[in-house]
Amino acid sequence: MKAADCPNREDRDRFEGQRQAEFIEKIRELVRETEFETGRKLRSTVVTFGCQMNARDSEKLRGILAEAGFQDTDLEEEADIILYNTCTVRENADQHVYGRLGKLTGIKRGRPGLIVGLCGCMMQEEHVVAKIRKSYPVVDLIFGTHNLFTFPELLYRRMTEKKRIVELWDGTDAIVENLPVSRKYAFKSGVNVMFGCNNFCSYCIVPYVRGRERSRRPQDILDEIRALAADGVREIMLLGQNVNSYGKGLPEKVTFAQLLTEAAAIPGIERIRFMTSHPKDLSDDLIEAIAENEKICRHFHLPVQSGSSRILEIMNRHYSREDYLRLVEKIRSRIPDISLTTDIIVGFPGETEEDFEDTLSLVREVSYDSAFTFIYSKRTGTPAARMPEQIPDNVVHERFDRLLALVKETGEKACSRFEGRTMDVLVEEVNKEPGYVTGRISHNLTVHLPGTAGDIGKIVPVKLNDCRGFYYFGTRL
Ligand code: 5AD
Ligand code: SF4
Repeated sequence: MKAADCPNREDRDRFEGQRQAEFIEKIRELVRETEFETGRKLRSTVVTFGCQMNARDSEKLRGILAEAGFQDTDLEEEADIILYNTCTVRENADQHVYGRLGKLTGIKRGRPGLIVGLCGCMMQEEHVVAKIRKSYPVVDLIFGTHNLFTFPELLYRRMTEKKRIVELWDGTDAIVENLPVSRKYAFKSGVNVMFGCNNFCSYCIVPYVRGRERSRRPQDILDEIRALAADGVREIMLLGQNVNSYGKGLPEKVTFAQLLTEAAAIPGIERIRFMTSHPKDLSDDLIEAIAENEKICRHFHLPVQSGSSRILEIMNRHYSREDYLRLVEKIRSRIPDISLTTDIIVGFPGETEEDFEDTLSLVREVSYDSAFTFIYSKRTGTPAARMPEQIPDNVVHERFDRLLALVKETGEKACSRFEGRTMDVLVEEVNKEPGYVTGRISHNLTVHLPGTAGDIGKIVPVKLNDCRGFYYFGTRL
């Protein structure tokens, strides 16, 4: 049977999953043979750039490599396969990758058998791939965001055909389930609920590199969470570029609020988070679902991008400053101590001093726990890149510094609101400071407390004694 013969999309995707599993088996054979010949283990490393979506994709890539028999390593020096999972949301992410490829060119001279692969968002841009084809012969394998699930097939081809393999798709409607996954943390995991984005904010490259919105079937998502819970996972992060539009295009009628509530009801799951919600279509149901369910974390990441209605309009965000502030008020009146965080872009084309001051006053008014602040980066192919009034670097940097100082001042004040209270902390890792561990409260704030590696994955009550900027020092009860 061929994939094209399958009667519907789901059968086709299932068939594709099986086909890729066969390639994993074939690679396993090759790995075994090579290990026998060389008398040593083969190793692989996956380096992640960018967002949580990419981090989750990397867990899939690592899962495939582990299943194919490669031992995971963090050290590029000892790896037989180096895979960079790239990001292109801002220019500096691209530059970083080119810099590292330059270094790999030297390294590969001494290790001709090394396989260098590139995947992720940057690869969905034609000009990037053209540059790599021409100037970086060190790269052996290129694939993109739409065909990540074909990695086993492409790697097998690279290993057998010994020539450069480039396979890029413009888009896909495929959602291939059940590929192997190697989780970074035993006790927490991201879970994709949807892929792609339909919003076309005028500055943003994501819709071009991640394609149109596609939601996973709720049953597939819930099954995955059940399996994770059975494997010891206690915290889930539901991932999508715009989770509020989850469910559109599915045969069943389901909203994100319903999905969140059902996921929270799965035994063993103690906490659920989600990323990212667009302020334009955040539903009352979602606010209600959070308010009514202690397992859904008290944290909203609500990217505002700008405090100026004029700029928001040109950004194609579909809300005004007033809409956003009303929404914040609505959330806070239902869930008073919720943590709000945001993303802000400084120096969008045409941003005046007055527009920027609107952003400063909005930050003061909302009083975020923290904010990710970005200098506007011109992305080829987006409408904003063609706008005439690009802002000079010195003006942008001066504004950026002012915003950063304000975010620090207001954030520190907001974060200190829990001082003296006792809250549950999910311990995530050992601290650099001996005898200490670090974890998070439901509100996503970081807490350092006395503990050992044995506490990782536990939820412990902690008195939040001392707020030091954006984190706490606490004592266990
Ligand atoms: N320049 C600067 N920041 C950007 N972001 C997205 N595109 C750009 C760009 N061209 C920021 C937005 C988004 C976050 C993930 O990255 O703030 O919310
Ligand atoms: Fe994530 Fe966007 Fe960067 Fe892709 S371009 S890794 S979706 S932030």
